[in-house]
Amino acid sequence: MFKSVLLICFFILVLNEASVPKTVQVFIGDSVVLPCHSPRQLTLFTAYWRYEDSKNVYDIQDGIGLTKEQDPVYKSRTESFPAEYSKGNFSLKLRKLQNIDAGSFCCFLPEFNSLQICTVLQVKEKPRGIQEKPGSHRGVESKAERIVSLLNPLFAGTILLWLCEW
Ligand SMILES: *[C@@H]1O[C@H](CO)[C@@H](O)[C@H](O)[C@H]1NC(C)=O
Repeated sequence: MFKSVLLICFFILVLNEASVPKTVQVFIGDSVVLPCHSPRQLTLFTAYWRYEDSKNVYDIQDGIGLTKEQDPVYKSRTESFPAEYSKGNFSLKLRKLQNIDAGSFCCFLPEFNSLQICTVLQVKEKPRGIQEKPGSHRGVESKAERIVSLLNPLFAGTILLWLCEW
C-alpha cells in the first residue's frame, strides 16, 4: 500500500516535469539553446524538432543532424551538438531570433513513445542600452514562469507528504 502511494507520488512529480512547457523570454537577434534531454540513455539517437507541432525545425536521425526537410525559415539558424547525443542530449541552438519564432518548439523522442519536451519562446524587442553578454545564450524566464516552476515541486511535494502521512 505504502509503496504504491509512493509510486503514484513519483509519477505526479515526473508528469509535472514533462508536461509543463517552459516559457523562455528571448530578444530579437539573440540565440537560444532549446533543451531536450532524454530521461535515460537511448540506444537510438533520434529526435525530431518541430515548431507548433508542424514546421520541421531539425531532425536528428541515427546520430546525424539533418536539415533536408527543414522549413526555410530556419535555414542556417540551427545547430545541434553531436558530442552530446550519446548522453541523451538533443538540445538545439536557434540563432538570429525573429518575431516569427514566438511559439512552441518541441523535441519528439520516438524511442520514448514520442515523448515531447517543449519550450515556448516569447520574443521581445531588445531593450535599448542592454547588450547581450558575450557567450550568454540563455533566455530569461518570465517571473510568472519562475514562480510556477517553484510552486510545482512544492505542490507535488505537499501532495506527496499528505498522501504518505495518510
Ligand atoms: C546539452 O548540450 C548543450 C550544448 O552543449 C548544453 O548547453 C546543455 O547544458 C546540455 N544539457 C545537459 C542537460 O547536459
